[in-house]
Amino acid sequence: MNAIEITGLKKSFHGLYVLDGLNMTVPLGAIYGFIGENGSGKSTTEKLICGHLVPSAGHIQLFGKSYKDAGIRARVGALIENAGCFPNATIYQNLMMQAINLNLPRPHEDIHRVLKIVRMEDGAGLKFKKCSLGMKQRIGIAMALLGDPALLILDEPINGLDTDGMRIMREILTDITQSHGCTVLISSHILGELEKIATHYGIIRQGKMVQELTATEMEGRCRTFTTLKTGDIQRAKLDLQKLFPDVREEGGELRVYDVNDTEAIVRHLLDNGHTIQLLQKNRIGLEEYYIELMSRKEGA
Ligand SMILES: Nc1ncnc2c1ncn2[C@@H]1O[C@H](COP(=O)(O)OP(=O)(O)OP(=O)(O)O)[C@@H](O)[C@H]1O
Ligand SMILES: [Mg+2]
Repeated sequence: MNAIEITGLKKSFHGLYVLDGLNMTVPLGAIYGFIGENGSGKSTTEKLICGHLVPSAGHIQLFGKSYKDAGIRARVGALIENAGCFPNATIYQNLMMQAINLNLPRPHEDIHRVLKIVRMEDGAGLKFKKCSLGMKQRIGIAMALLGDPALLILDEPINGLDTDGMRIMREILTDITQSHGCTVLISSHILGELEKIATHYGIIRQGKMVQELTATEMEGRCRTFTTLKTGDIQRAKLDLQKLFPDVREEGGELRVYDVNDTEAIVRHLLDNGHTIQLLQKNRIGLEEYYIELMSRKEGA
């Protein structure tokens, strides 16, 4: 059973299809990074899963049941756009209003529990309007966690956060999945950050899923390369090509792809009388992979 299973999902606004037969599978316990350019349909997909919008066609299953099932709906928490808090009320009061809305039998305990998860136990008395952006995002997550969701949907929760804010968010999301068994669907444009937490990826383009893959599959496709600068680049390139399968010149530097043994590269160069001015190990990450995939699809 998967947390989310979407098939042939379509959504049109004023006759224009924003989602055009989207398929998507989010496994249980995943942190699923949902990636795509502006306007590709991420927020629309998330709103459809949450039942905020009605699909034009297609199926959405959550935990093996229709997304319309009331029991299932109650297990979905979401932070889409903003937390929807009252600015003049305190964090505690905002959470209490939500707890009352959800008819929670032990609201005080639940508020304490979610504030602890989002590392804000000491801030309950602060007015919402006084909170920083990072705090507001965390309060939004606390709101979404109040109903003890099995699935958490977060639309760009790390936008605009500073390094520390991102680190805290990373810890919170890992904690939610690992300690609380929650599945997280998270959309973001900050791929370097997403890469640190996602276990799965879904790449959407113009309302269609271009590719879904696990973090391990992504890792396998993200190549490593060693950047080199030598006294005579052309001669070094020819010498390196005798031993290593993929050596390229790029911007006055040499790149030796997929060789983990840097020492072997150095040894080969020195043995052939080269001088090494620069040597650096690099990795093609999610961002480069995404850009490459997008340009390939565009050309196709
Ligand atoms: N209520 C609406 N009425 C009309 N068009 C809409 C509505 N909601 C979304 N759209 C359009 O649907 C398309 C997809 O929007 P969506 O917000 O899902 O994209 P997104 O992938 O979340 O983009 P971003 O990365 O900018 O957040 C856009 O062209 C948008 O203008
Ligand atoms: Mg969006």
